[in-house]
Amino acid sequence: ASPLKAKIVLLPGDGIGPEIVAQAQRVLEAVASRFGHEFEFSSHLIGGIAIDTCGDPLPDETVAACKESSAILLGAVGGPKWDDPSAKTRPEAGLLKIRKELGLFANLRPIRLFDQLIDASPLKREIIEGTDILFFRELTGGIYFGESGREGSGDTESAYQKMIYSVPEVQRIVRLAAKAARNRENRLTSVDKANVLEPSRLWRSVAAKVMADEFPDVEYDVVLVDSMAMHLINRPKDFDVVVTGNMFGDILTDEASMLPGSLGMLPSASLGDGGPGLYEPIHGSAPDIAGKGIANPLATILASAMLLRHSLGLGEEAELIETAVESVLADGHRTADLARGGASIGTEAMGDAVMKHLAN
Ligand code: NAI
Ligand code: MG
Repeated sequence: ASPLKAKIVLLPGDGIGPEIVAQAQRVLEAVASRFGHEFEFSSHLIGGIAIDTCGDPLPDETVAACKESSAILLGAVGGPKWDDPSAKTRPEAGLLKIRKELGLFANLRPIRLFDQLIDASPLKREIIEGTDILFFRELTGGIYFGESGREGSGDTESAYQKMIYSVPEVQRIVRLAAKAARNRENRLTSVDKANVLEPSRLWRSVAAKVMADEFPDVEYDVVLVDSMAMHLINRPKDFDVVVTGNMFGDILTDEASMLPGSLGMLPSASLGDGGPGLYEPIHGSAPDIAGKGIANPLATILASAMLLRHSLGLGEEAELIETAVESVLADGHRTADLARGGASIGTEAMGDAVMKHLAN
């Protein structure tokens, strides 16, 4: 790709966040210099550290910087220090608010298995080998945002929560997922519960029309969510890109994230319409190992590869990082979480190992 300029906001956050984001920044800088891009980095507060510094888990200054950026790389937020139930604000509030401020309606979670780590999977090798799925979970609609309430009281009290999806909400996420499929194996699976739920019937018909009108070249099928829960365990390698609503996606992506058996390797992205995307590892702030220099930075480094691919259109650069991570694992480098009791290296040494492959 021709050289480009981009503003990248870093939100290191809490716990191991600053340690792992520092390694991802080194990797992004190495890629920039190799390809002649100019990345301008700035670091801002979010989460517990933002509460400690200015009493707000998402300061206005952070929001403004994010809105002006090309893309955002986040570490993690939260920790026992801020778990006091009487506190008036929590670190997670910062994360929810930034997603909302930026209209990040699509959550992408790649579930990719590294050959070198296959024994960490809870599934048998012959079932899991070759698994490479990209989930698109709708993030700002559906039942989690539907009107809710209670009626009556006591023994006859009831509660309700509405599941609502509109045509534009379905169209925009199906389009994003179908575009991503074109850059992969060109297959898209939509997951719903159209045998029971009215919003799923709308979802299914809108998705079918988008696919027929705009993506006739992409192989497309639909699966019911309860079947999908089984297929993920039984034949995960059969799926390429999967698109689904908020609640089904919440459950299925958590199920799928256990397939590789190594939390420290999984990145995610949240995208909106045109604005900056937010990239982060799926794991949390790991307070039990924070400050020890032993956290695995690879999920965050892989998140930075997603950032290059999805926000900056730099697919070749993204692949270079992904290949470097594979090579590092093939060389036998393991942080403690991957080492299964064997020899391990620290956060910075793992960053060094990736940098070495990027330089080759
Ligand atoms: P966690 O993902 O932080 O940690 C779970 C276990 O995995 C811990 O034993 C931890 O040491 C280990 N681990 C996680 N990431 C690792 C890495 N990169 N390298 C090596 N080991 C790693 O989940 P937990 O303990 O449930 O939550 C801790 C804090 O993180 C909580 O305050 C929680 O609210 C927050 N959290 C934040 C998220 C975010 O910022 N998006 C997501 C999940 C949790
Ligand atoms: Mg979840």
